[in-house]
Amino acid sequence: MRRKKISIIGAGFVGATAAHWAAEKELGDVVLVDILEGIPQGKALDLFQASPVEGFDARVIGSNGYEETKDSDVVIVTSGVPRKPGMSREDLLEINKKIIESVVTEVVGKSPQAILIMVTNPLDTMTYLALKKSGLTKQRVMGMAGILDTARFKAFIAMELGVSVEDIQALLLGGHGDEMVPLPRYTTVSGIPLSQLLPKETIDRLVDRTRKGGGEIVNLLKTGSAFYAPSAAAIQMTEAILKDKRRILPCCVYLDGEYGLKDICFGVPVKLGANGVEAIIELQLTEEEKKLFAKSAESVKKSIAELKL
Ligand code: NAI
Ligand code: 2OP
Repeated sequence: MRRKKISIIGAGFVGATAAHWAAEKELGDVVLVDILEGIPQGKALDLFQASPVEGFDARVIGSNGYEETKDSDVVIVTSGVPRKPGMSREDLLEINKKIIESVVTEVVGKSPQAILIMVTNPLDTMTYLALKKSGLTKQRVMGMAGILDTARFKAFIAMELGVSVEDIQALLLGGHGDEMVPLPRYTTVSGIPLSQLLPKETIDRLVDRTRKGGGEIVNLLKTGSAFYAPSAAAIQMTEAILKDKRRILPCCVYLDGEYGLKDICFGVPVKLGANGVEAIIELQLTEEEKKLFAKSAESVKKSIAELKL
């Protein structure tokens, strides 16, 4: 049996940490690619040298080119610039657009059957760009954001209640911006509705902190953005695909009429399996949730228009 191959483009904070999670979980062999000479090679060698200590079997190699990525099963794209304090994700559009256009062309040239998981910001817009540029089907191109944003919501709830994160189920829709739509109505702690455990004002405060969760970390780090939780989230998607788990996870995917939206990449719950996005799950939303959803969609549409494709 051939081992799966996971290529990760961009060997910075998110990319290198994703390589770490993927290798440790033995999801397959890992190829790290970056334009910086020596960085992907050095990080890959260092990570491979951790394998005898930690006892995982995964080859990890680094490269400045794409030859080694040939026939990848999953490609995670993290190449690009992260934001600094005072910047929004949208401020990254122009520079990351050029990077993603060239990276996606290289990736698909070597791995025409791959499934692409986009991470680079602005996430929804870069996912749309990758879909259009790659020529891959809408099932094979997706973006990571919803799992991260939901994880933040779950973490804040666990901190507030002093309970295990394992018992929290939550859901979140919309674009990866401050207008994302956390759904307390679909949030439970071991099946108990969140509204029975916390007053509305506390839930509202946690929702607000979740919306601004990325910025909170940027303000603390000052030189870049979050990477542990983002890379873990991208690897959860990778695992669902490579192991054909058919997990229901919030991901950024192309909508063609679902939720009343067309020609947009946007965060919704999907079924992830060996074929990528195997189904889009449409939720019943209240009027208030619909309004928030529409507002988030408007800002993503505006950003996609900036691509001038
Ligand atoms: P980083 O700066 O640590 O790493 C980015 C890497 O991309 C650098 O090593 C850089 O040399 C490389 N790179 C730039 N141009 C390239 C090219 N043409 N080909 C190959 N590599 C190239 O940044 P970090 O923290 O890893 O973040 C990466 C991206 O992911 C940023 O755009 C950030 O905003 C985004 N992000 C998105 C999240 C999400 O939820 N979707 C969460 C966290 C980060
Ligand atoms: C985050 O939410 C920066 O998008 C990244 O942490």
